[in-house]
Amino acid sequence: MDTTIETTITVNGTPVTRRVPARQHLIDFLRDTVGLTGSHVGCEHGVCGACTIRVDGEILRGCLMLAVQANGRKVDTIEGLSDSGELADLQRAFHEHNALQCGFCTPGMLMAAQDLIRQHKKVSRDEIRTHIGGNYCRCTGYQAIVDAIEEVING
Ligand code: FES
Ligand code: FES
Repeated sequence: MDTTIETTITVNGTPVTRRVPARQHLIDFLRDTVGLTGSHVGCEHGVCGACTIRVDGEILRGCLMLAVQANGRKVDTIEGLSDSGELADLQRAFHEHNALQCGFCTPGMLMAAQDLIRQHKKVSRDEIRTHIGGNYCRCTGYQAIVDAIEEVING
């Protein structure tokens, strides 16, 4: 039987305390235990970026971190950033540029893009492509995604 460990994680500003299996990944905790299914799970190997979340202000792969490793830390998900309005400009730009089709990659893509926007610097299209290079999209060919991010960053 899996050992469970009491763990408290501040999720989108609200402390959540649960006994979690020692081997449960953070993304599964967020989706299955907390019910925040906006972050997706694709490869489960740290490759596709679908599970991108923010931990203590830094984006990372939720499938590469155990829930118990997030004990005492602050986790923000696509739901939190969306509800706070932080993503409003990006969401509008993605909509206007048709930067999504199936939408599977979109939450992770928005989290990665917003991480670049928060740096408040002008960037080239190549730099945008590099920054989102760890977020795979099977549908769009990336052009419209880069267009949308570029519009928000560079105006
Ligand atoms: S599901 Fe985490 S990187 Fe693919
Ligand atoms: S919109 Fe389908 S994977 Fe990106």
